[in-house]
Amino acid sequence: MSQPRVIITAPVPADLREQIAARCEIIDVPAGNSLVEALDKEQRATIDGIICTMRSKFDESILDAFPRLRVVSNFAVGYDNVNVPAATARDVLVCNTPKVLDGAVADLTFGLLICVARNMINGDAHVRNGTWASKGAPALTHDIRGKTLGLLGMGRIGRVVAETAKAFNMKVIYHNRTRNTEAEAAGIADYRDRDALFAESDFLSVHIPLNPETRHSVGAKEFAAMKPTAYLLNTARGPVVDEAALIEALKNGQIAGAGLDVMELEPLPASSPLCELPNVVLQAHVGSGTVETRRAMIDLAVRNLLDAVSDTRPQAMVNPEVWTARSETTNA
Ligand code: GLV
Repeated sequence: MSQPRVIITAPVPADLREQIAARCEIIDVPAGNSLVEALDKEQRATIDGIICTMRSKFDESILDAFPRLRVVSNFAVGYDNVNVPAATARDVLVCNTPKVLDGAVADLTFGLLICVARNMINGDAHVRNGTWASKGAPALTHDIRGKTLGLLGMGRIGRVVAETAKAFNMKVIYHNRTRNTEAEAAGIADYRDRDALFAESDFLSVHIPLNPETRHSVGAKEFAAMKPTAYLLNTARGPVVDEAALIEALKNGQIAGAGLDVMELEPLPASSPLCELPNVVLQAHVGSGTVETRRAMIDLAVRNLLDAVSDTRPQAMVNPEVWTARSETTNA
């Protein structure tokens, strides 16, 4: 029997590549290249699996261009690059990399929180530019301890952010579609309705996935409800926040500042008004960007791919119903 054929668009370390090569035929397509254009129709009809970054988009037409595809293994926990219902309808398993990045993303969230609250980026420039000597000490900032951190979304990452906040003696409140009664009982966070979350938070941190319902769900109405002293943090997905409304809120002092690891358009053009605002700290979508975490993510993404193409239940499936249906057909 011929080996499964898989496309790799993500950076895979040599040892893992060897593991894939021992069981599959590999076709490399550099990230950002069109998967459809990279292969002709006959080649596309032979592909069983794809390991990709979130830069590869899988809409209906792309899924249709790979009629034999059995698995899209995303090298990310978020999967807004894949039309999951369309994949499910075509019997394509979608896998992702949950859990292994929770700590790294929570750490970056806190890094942004401290940077914006203590004005650290401007403070760094003040020292480097020599204005410390001429202008003296920078303006005082505000305490983090004792303040209220509001989490929009209380999944795995939100939960680790909440635990981290406890070490800073912060009060943690959250809003989530389903209540996390376990976290509440453990004293990690208190539930609030959505309006109360925005109104009460000194720091509002976004931890919800991007989907048609959440796109632009944080916008002008939410900024108007926030305290003028409050900060927005986003380490989830840029388009969850209406960026034009955020820029307005930051310019007119409706909120005090923002710490953003994600933007609507990535890479963020240097001409973006966000780059002009002194009350914003920006990062280049690096929440999971540590050596250890990226290794754990690619380990999992490769394992998911190899399992799926060899009919072994993958560890992290977004649409496990595809797996269940396949097993039922096999066992019938
Ligand atoms: C990164 O943004 C991820 O979804 O893993």
